[in-house]
Amino acid sequence: MRVTIRDLKNMKARGEKIAMITAYDYTSAMIVERAGIPIILVGDSLGHVIMGHDSTVPVTMADMIHHIQAVMRGTEKTHVVGDMPFMSYQADAADGVRNAGRLLKEGGCQSVKLEGGRPVADIVRKIVQAGIPVMGHLGLTPQAVNQLGGYRIQGRTTKAAVELIDDAKALEEAGAYALVLEGVPTQLAQMVTERLSIPTIGIGAGVHCDGQVQVFHDLLGLFDDFAPKHARKYANLSEVIQDAVSRYVSDVQARTFPNEKESFNMKPEVAQELTGQHFETV
Ligand code: KIV
Repeated sequence: MRVTIRDLKNMKARGEKIAMITAYDYTSAMIVERAGIPIILVGDSLGHVIMGHDSTVPVTMADMIHHIQAVMRGTEKTHVVGDMPFMSYQADAADGVRNAGRLLKEGGCQSVKLEGGRPVADIVRKIVQAGIPVMGHLGLTPQAVNQLGGYRIQGRTTKAAVELIDDAKALEEAGAYALVLEGVPTQLAQMVTERLSIPTIGIGAGVHCDGQVQVFHDLLGLFDDFAPKHARKYANLSEVIQDAVSRYVSDVQARTFPNEKESFNMKPEVAQELTGQHFETV
């Protein structure tokens, strides 16, 4: 049985912190599940770290479904959240419900995440009414990068902070089961966390959230294009991989790979029969 939204809400009630991480493929999903992660986000951040785009705007429903399916195949117990890509829900609620349904039916995930506050509260309500759990996402909402004028910390003025608190309450009231707070001051994230009964999951939002989320590639030092201030590198895998691959290149060039043990021998009688035979080339 996979972790449910009820389990996640109970974790907040018990004061147990929630560690969420992104994953986009079978192998990494399997590894993070083994490490004890209760919830994976198949984030549209795959636009950056998997596809090499400079924003999440180009990510499509087909991209999301493809990666959610792979993550589902790599996990058994973890709750998997599928991110709704840009323009899969913003235009109208019916679109949002249908696309959220596709992530569950075709992707196989247990819930969806979408960005925005009061303007999407009605869409959240309708998706929840259709039986699909929704995680909200406030603060620095990357799909709105062109509107925000860059990847900037949000909620810094009194007005912006009050608006964000109102957005958070509207999402909870619409039925969201959890809320990502991205790129907001620690104190604001604490205020939101204390005012909601659903768990808040922070990224660049300080220590007071009910949980944290990190992008797999940032946590493991796999992505050198950009290092966000909020990310802690627990490993430097890009260096490890580069070193391993360059040793492989050297071994191939030096003819030390493959060795005897890494090769397959022909049966001696076949080798003998073939010796001296003439082979016609086509
Ligand atoms: O797409 C993503 O990975 C996200 C997280 C950073 C919260 O939205």
